[in-house]
Amino acid sequence: MFSRRSFLSVLTAGIAANVVLPRYTWAAPGVEVPGKAGMIVRSARFLDLEMPAEFFDSWITPAPHFFVRNHMHEPSTLDAEEWKLSISGEVEKPLALDLAALKKLEMHSVINTLECAGNGRSFQQPRVPGVQWQRGAVGTARFSGPRLSDLLQSAGVKTTGKHVMFRGLDEVPGKVPPFIRSIPVEKALDADTLVATHMNGAPLARHHGFPARALVPGWIGAASCKWLTEIKVLDKEFEGNFMKPGYRMPNQFISPGGEVNLDDTHPITSLGVKSVIVGPIEDSSVKSRSLRIHGAAWAGEASIARVDVSIDSGTTWHPARLGSEQARYAWRLWDYAGQVPKAGEYTIMSRATDDQGRVQPPAAAWNPSGYLYNAIDQVKIRVVA
Ligand code: MTE
Repeated sequence: MFSRRSFLSVLTAGIAANVVLPRYTWAAPGVEVPGKAGMIVRSARFLDLEMPAEFFDSWITPAPHFFVRNHMHEPSTLDAEEWKLSISGEVEKPLALDLAALKKLEMHSVINTLECAGNGRSFQQPRVPGVQWQRGAVGTARFSGPRLSDLLQSAGVKTTGKHVMFRGLDEVPGKVPPFIRSIPVEKALDADTLVATHMNGAPLARHHGFPARALVPGWIGAASCKWLTEIKVLDKEFEGNFMKPGYRMPNQFISPGGEVNLDDTHPITSLGVKSVIVGPIEDSSVKSRSLRIHGAAWAGEASIARVDVSIDSGTTWHPARLGSEQARYAWRLWDYAGQVPKAGEYTIMSRATDDQGRVQPPAAAWNPSGYLYNAIDQVKIRVVA
């Protein structure tokens, strides 16, 4: 269907042959990814693309602006005619479906804000290794496809089935463990959990998991396995690399820079409450004392109740106006019109609250992988009017 060589030759065209990309790059300047113009290339080794602030202007993120997070190479020879999805394990009747069979099932749509667990990692203090995402490893799309529960019900989940495992068709380099994760059977049977074949009304683009991916709404992006080829019902949680040690949070508070005992951690599931400021941007000069501050806020399986903004470093807070577009699992865009008294430097802040009463905290819970960064957002600007 597509050749990795031809794709990589375009991808690496801007990189001199003798330049070795650092493992964790801040950005790969000069790299252009076809169909993804304007995205920040955080890694070109395995594709990791971040959405820049200016693309947060739309409630539904167009696919070309949607972030990409790949742990390894995308499948290079995926043929939609040959592709199959198997369902096995703790089921009465194992199944294998091709794309035509999948498309015959009833479609369901969910508008979901997908965020990488590592989004905001670059703001963790002390710094932590990993892709140095700022604000844009997040996007909102309308995902459509059959309900995972319909597939699981056709296969008949045994009472011993407790977790549902997904395997993707990534090309696994060397000793890297394959991308396999599991979710509890309750979330798998939720009516909004999908085997998505479409994004924003079009077949999934290859970077987003063509021809099918899991869509686990409200949960960290890692739960939504791309290039899905195998679903297996297990009697216990899967324990491979991307479940343990990967994608876990400490059970206890860890002082920043401290060590974590793996036995005292749990797998990350849903996203926290969070807002980001996308305008004005960090370090910008604003030529007016009237400020339009805007951004997005989301809360995983919960809903945003309010966003408050401060233009005086957190001394006073004012409610932002929430955008009218909303859906369960989707972010709210917000904006605030404020006035500063005089020219000078200002720190503007945003703080989201959700309908469960969770409030975006002044500091995120530090952890050695920098997951779930959700501290009150802040941006320094210069008013020059
Ligand atoms: N699925 C497979 N097969 N391989 C991957 O590397 N990355 C996961 C998830 N699904 C991944 C995957 C992670 S960490 C995230 S955040 C989301 O895909 C990103 O989805 P996107 O690239 O469509 O934005």
